[in-house]
Amino acid sequence: MKVLFVADICGEVGLEMAEKQINRLRREEKIDFVVANGENAAPKNGINEKSLRRLLLAGADCITLGNHSFDCAEVLDFIDRSEELIRPYNYPQGTPGKGWCLLEKGAERLAVASLLGNVFVSNLPSPFAAVDDLLAEIKASCGVKNILIDIHAEVTSEKIALAYYLDGKVSAVIGTHTHVQTADEKILAQGTGYLTDCGMCGAYESVLGVDAALAIERFRTQRPVRFAQAKGKGQFNGCILEITNGKTISIKRINIVEK
Ligand SMILES: [Fe+2]
Ligand SMILES: [Fe+2]
Repeated sequence: MKVLFVADICGEVGLEMAEKQINRLRREEKIDFVVANGENAAPKNGINEKSLRRLLLAGADCITLGNHSFDCAEVLDFIDRSEELIRPYNYPQGTPGKGWCLLEKGAERLAVASLLGNVFVSNLPSPFAAVDDLLAEIKASCGVKNILIDIHAEVTSEKIALAYYLDGKVSAVIGTHTHVQTADEKILAQGTGYLTDCGMCGAYESVLGVDAALAIERFRTQRPVRFAQAKGKGQFNGCILEITNGKTISIKRINIVEK
């Protein structure tokens, strides 16, 4: 099967890039499943129902979240009834929503899970403490071999170590959160596809999607500044994985910048 993973979608520019690129890639690359990180899809981070609907219409099958999962309070109204929306698995028990979901298309099945790092990004239990339970839950529930994990984390070492811990246990570990695509895509020895960070879909001229002038003001004044997502020409980041029998056999980065 072929899976397109789309990096963090940031606001209106990110949504427009998703609308322009996902269905085209789906067609041209014969993609079976599209997974997109939507934690910054709403205008002030988080996800609202309108941006979720737009991403699904744009061609996404599953939307993952991250440290901004609950920034948009409206998410509580729909997260429990949105089959295709997942928040990190390692939130405390009882947190609304769920940490993984199963995608099915004909004979193809893919489990998608989300984990949040805890170094410099959250106080959640470490993903290393949660992932064994996650895999046991997936095995007991559907026994699917093809498993994709979105590790939403700040620190490269936490992501790389998690990938090596999971090598041979999952099909792919794809990093999100830093909004900067890394050039280290690889397939580990036991067949787990890996990329430290997939990047961002949003304004090309921006500081991680945020209006550069506002980010500069925060750094210069050392005072809180109300952020807004940047406008202007867009970029689309992602990666395409080819997965067979639970293992990744190819991984390709996507980096499209509008003219
Ligand atoms: Fe993000
Ligand atoms: Fe994040």
